[in-house]
Amino acid sequence: MAQNLLQGKKGIIFGALDEKSIAWKTAKRCVEQGAQIVLTNAPIALRMGEIKKLAEECNAPVIPADITNMDDLNNLFTQSMEHFGGKIDFVLHSVGMSINMRKGRPYTDLDYDFTHKTMDISAISLHRVLQTAYKLDALNEHASVVALTYIAAQRVFPDYSEMADAKAMLESVARSFGYHYGIKNKVRINTISQSPVRTTAGSGVKGFDDFINFAEEMSPLGNASADQCADYTVTLFSDLTRMVTMQNLYHDGGFSSTGVTMAVLDKK
Ligand code: NAI
Repeated sequence: MAQNLLQGKKGIIFGALDEKSIAWKTAKRCVEQGAQIVLTNAPIALRMGEIKKLAEECNAPVIPADITNMDDLNNLFTQSMEHFGGKIDFVLHSVGMSINMRKGRPYTDLDYDFTHKTMDISAISLHRVLQTAYKLDALNEHASVVALTYIAAQRVFPDYSEMADAKAMLESVARSFGYHYGIKNKVRINTISQSPVRTTAGSGVKGFDDFINFAEEMSPLGNASADQCADYTVTLFSDLTRMVTMQNLYHDGGFSSTGVTMAVLDKK
């Protein structure tokens, strides 16, 4: 696929942990399409080491940043602009974590200190990233920011727990900041609502295996893969989608518009 849709563009990719990560696949696809990138993740995730392989493959520096730390974010954007010798054209926010889920706390028995942390990492972090870029004037005109979300923001998936609330906020931040950054620099901000994928974050959801199979059967096209998500994200980073902003875009094989499928009914 040598369309060079991102030729000359420079971007920051948050959230590549291992080969399964949506951000990992997206990083590779962006580079295949001609982009230069900077990779970033929390210092603790970087210590696990796998990202070095991706960095070599993508010829990209890795700049550590805890997405909840403003000094880290300032440093990330400043160093990235130094590295690129100019401003940034795209940002992928592919970050999420539920502390209550990790600690086995159900939605009806949340620990609110954990919830605050979950909201900060998974939702407020998008605001932190955008505010940092806005204040540093780090994004070029028509730059594109994409954050990954899930349909539990709109409909109840009981085991998705507090992450549903975090995703609802994430989508709201994309809309609200999309207004301000659109006016200021024609920067567009969208969320992609992705099918379930077997990744470290995804598999943390209770009953994930049953759930991913159900989603497959409930989607006329089947579940969208992480590779396909990377393709879709590339279109949003490209100049072909310059007027798309403040949207929550479903990338889910039709799941979000389907009431029931024969595949599900036939199982009864
Ligand atoms: P992943 O576990 O590979 O990626 C999550 C990333 O968040 C990791 O790289 C992790 O190190 C990073 N992270 C956590 N805390 C951080 C912090 N304080 N600072 C910086 N980075 C931090 O899993 P996946 O699935 O690729 O997740 C990426 C995004 O896609 C998440 O927002 C997730 O909610 C979303 N998503 C995932 C779906 C799935 O089924 N896997 C479905 C729909 C959306």
